[in-house]
Amino acid sequence: MNIFFNSKKEYQKAKSGGYAIGAFNTSNLEITQAICKAARELKAPVIIQTTPSAIEYAGLGQIFDIVKNEIENQKVSGAIHLDHGKDFGLVKKCIDMGFGSVMIDGSYLEHEENIHITKRIVNLAAEHGVCVEAEIGRISKEEGGELSHKGAKTDPMEAKEFVEKTGIDILAVSVGNEHGAPKGERLDLELLKEISKTVNTPLVIHGSSGLSRNDIKEAIKLGVVKFNIDTNIRHAFSESVEDSSSDDPREVMTAGKDAVTKLVMDYIELFGTAGK
Ligand code: G3H
Ligand code: ZN
Repeated sequence: MNIFFNSKKEYQKAKSGGYAIGAFNTSNLEITQAICKAARELKAPVIIQTTPSAIEYAGLGQIFDIVKNEIENQKVSGAIHLDHGKDFGLVKKCIDMGFGSVMIDGSYLEHEENIHITKRIVNLAAEHGVCVEAEIGRISKEEGGELSHKGAKTDPMEAKEFVEKTGIDILAVSVGNEHGAPKGERLDLELLKEISKTVNTPLVIHGSSGLSRNDIKEAIKLGVVKFNIDTNIRHAFSESVEDSSSDDPREVMTAGKDAVTKLVMDYIELFGTAGK
């Protein structure tokens, strides 16, 4: 059983419709509630994603149920996505649990190894109708912005070979984007244009928190259908919780929720997903 909207179809719709779908990271109930509220208010499809570290923090079954129940309770057109899955076993567990979409991130591996593990996940996912995302090129920082390995921009011809050999549904590219919203983060739009002409597969930009509105709009014109946002959600939530003067956890957490809902609504408007 997969959750809700069929990401493959939604990506194709977004690509032909000239808009993108926001993919927002969560690790708890409140952020999940806030993302769903924003999507509900703007009648927008939304991807709610969780990383291996968020799964470790919340528990796989727990975070899956939180997202599933919120999407259902708030009647949102949503999908739950595993973000930056690196371990075959965890990706398989998520597919078995009912994730409608997974990322197998082999970008830190040698090219052939990335192809091999990605192909294994594509074959497994196909048995469950699950959408697969993978990454070619290397986005330099990990979630939260820790430097883990040197970045390497995506080579268009390598990307073409990768997509043909693996059969993935959406490709994460490295075109100047970085996790952790570093100052002055800019997309190499010329390279993105080259990749978009060479690879027909929908594209996703990781590390979108630090991007300018203009870069995001230009990237959508070049076939990007998914933007990942984590850092700005963390900042919005934490700053509002810290600013709260209440000693009632419900009020404190509501301050964080309201800040995240506002942020996600802004992004949904920017991506052009409202009303879709
Ligand atoms: O996978 C999650 C996103 O790529 C995080 O990007 O640090 O710019 O929010 P961000
Ligand atoms: Zn990412």
